[in-house]
Amino acid sequence: MNLQEVQRYLSLYQLEKNESEAWLTNRLHEIKAVGEYIPTTEELTFGAQVAWRNSNKCIGRLFWQSLHVVDARDTLDEQAIFEKLLMHIQFATNNGKIRPTITVFAPGRVRIWNHQLIRYAGYETAEGIVGDPHSVSFTKICESLGWKGEGTAFDVLPLVVQVDERSPQVFSIPQESILEVPIRHPEREEVDALGMKWYAVPIISSMRIQMAGIDFQAAPFNGWYMGTEIGARNLADHDRYDILPAIANIFGLDTTKQASLWKDRALVELNIAVLHSFKEDGVSIVDHHTAAQQFKLFEEAEATAGREFTGNWSWLIPPLSPAATHIFHKPYVNVYNTPNYFYQKPPY
Ligand code: ARG
Repeated sequence: MNLQEVQRYLSLYQLEKNESEAWLTNRLHEIKAVGEYIPTTEELTFGAQVAWRNSNKCIGRLFWQSLHVVDARDTLDEQAIFEKLLMHIQFATNNGKIRPTITVFAPGRVRIWNHQLIRYAGYETAEGIVGDPHSVSFTKICESLGWKGEGTAFDVLPLVVQVDERSPQVFSIPQESILEVPIRHPEREEVDALGMKWYAVPIISSMRIQMAGIDFQAAPFNGWYMGTEIGARNLADHDRYDILPAIANIFGLDTTKQASLWKDRALVELNIAVLHSFKEDGVSIVDHHTAAQQFKLFEEAEATAGREFTGNWSWLIPPLSPAATHIFHKPYVNVYNTPNYFYQKPPY
């Protein structure tokens, strides 16, 4: 136990939750007597929400207080953990009306090997990579653990769960638990024929949450997508699905000259298609202009609360038309306060 960190954390809790001085003294007394700090579910909930508030890379932080926190610290059986993960997927997906959710497992005991709970496999083949190149190494791990995908460009990877030093267990996610959106363009049916799709809910499962000096290595969390994450990165990046040349072809753009700005025009059409498809299917998504406006409200709310604002400019600016948002035009202080979400070494 890091008593200084516990004190710091509980002082923040006391301040923001309007607890009394006596409450704090008493709580610290208790903790010292036990010799270990085990957050109550309320303390855990607040910590996870503040960790979101402190996430400098995230443009969606206005909604930090709405984070739904599931306390799963007592779940230590692989099958039961898998079921908690399915419940997370179902609760968060909510038939498309996505709810920001985190499920927190026992610190130091549980690891989820996946980068996100729902993610597409990537296979190295003689004809190049099929699927998501981002997943190639994890896909190999899943195969070495006995899983075999169909080999399409959009195979959902299985969940890989590890408890203590036991060997990891592999669980397939039932298809009916996975909401996906076929990508189509409001004006050009040829885009639909490309067969692109994306899953509805990005649930990051590779990061740890740190609060009061405790590391929770398994704490999958989600919000909803900003359109550009899919339309300007996942489907567009040259080292991801690399779909821009196909879009340019459909729109008859001149790909022989950089200066025709075919990439820029294809990017805009692809992002229109992503937003249109999610909206039409009733799946929560936000465009980058609206997200930037919401982020401005968050900055203002933080100022009103008297807190020093922190952010990571290079992550906050959207990858499409960044200078059309206010974020581009001002500096942000990238100091990492805790509680927060951090990267950690993959377990494989
Ligand atoms: N950028 C990641 C992806 O495209 C998801 C990161 C979290 N995004 C979010 N909107 N909460 O899969």
